[in-house]
Amino acid sequence: MTQRLRKVVFPVAGLGTRFLPATKVVAKEMLPVLDRPLIQYAVDEAVDAGADTLIFVTNRYKHAIADYFDKAYELEQKLEAAGKKELLSLVQNVLPKNVRCVFVTQPEALGLGHAVLCAKPVVGNEPFGVILPDDLIWNTGASALKQMADLAAFENSGVIAVEEVPREQTNKYGIVDATPINDRAALIKLMVEKPKPEDAPSNLAVVGRYVLPGRIFSLLESTKPGAGGEIQLTDAIDALLKQERVLAYRFEGERFDCGNKLGLVKATMHFALQDPALAEATREFVAGK
Ligand code: UTP
Repeated sequence: MTQRLRKVVFPVAGLGTRFLPATKVVAKEMLPVLDRPLIQYAVDEAVDAGADTLIFVTNRYKHAIADYFDKAYELEQKLEAAGKKELLSLVQNVLPKNVRCVFVTQPEALGLGHAVLCAKPVVGNEPFGVILPDDLIWNTGASALKQMADLAAFENSGVIAVEEVPREQTNKYGIVDATPINDRAALIKLMVEKPKPEDAPSNLAVVGRYVLPGRIFSLLESTKPGAGGEIQLTDAIDALLKQERVLAYRFEGERFDCGNKLGLVKATMHFALQDPALAEATREFVAGK
């Protein structure tokens, strides 16, 4: 996988039931952490990793994501006429000029693996990234996907982001069994989706970042529904392990699971505390003043 990472897939066709009723009309990925929607943080990470083609796997209700990355002519004209240059540049710079967006539909929510497979005609046979935008990863250096893309190119292998989770939570994640190579990387021996704590081979959980070879698509095509009756990406990666090396990588950064309410609250607090204009007032509020 020495090829440079150019394409990143964002599977955003899930129903987002944990945020109903808001997600009746607002895509989960459009929920904001402060003033930016989750999808913006994910796209910034992909761009930092060097991507120039962003592939959104959406469903027919999620027009807002396409609208968000489209040009907003009326708004831009109004901001320009009012001389609001800073706001204008905020609106115009959600995406660098050299980056293009492609939208693909997942007709039915048949699972994450199926959503990734829907991107096959756009990705073709080259290594690509996958970002689940509800896993927001904050850090001050290279983005998590950039760290992974560099490792994938260096090691010529697939790379999957992992994090240690409490044993009792293994049934919420894909779990890997892996042999350590160094402080952060390990060679994956097997992967299993949502095992019960007593059956889990470790407490190393897969989180929402992947760098995968194009070969994964043919494996996804023959992946049968697994945990929860869904076509699981984890099952296809487990099949890939029989053909090539895939590394588990403990990224530098802090992950917020914004797919649930508490995670979104924590991310919001964290970003408020990083923001000089909000930090003090936020600290006072938390201290109960
Ligand atoms: P989740 O398991 O978080 O499901 O999917 P969800 O539907 O988004 O949210 P809840 O659980 O109902 O609240 C993980 C990721 O996989 C995508 C989701 O959009 C999310 O980014 N996904 C899942 C798809 O794109 N298609 C699917 O069929 C399933």
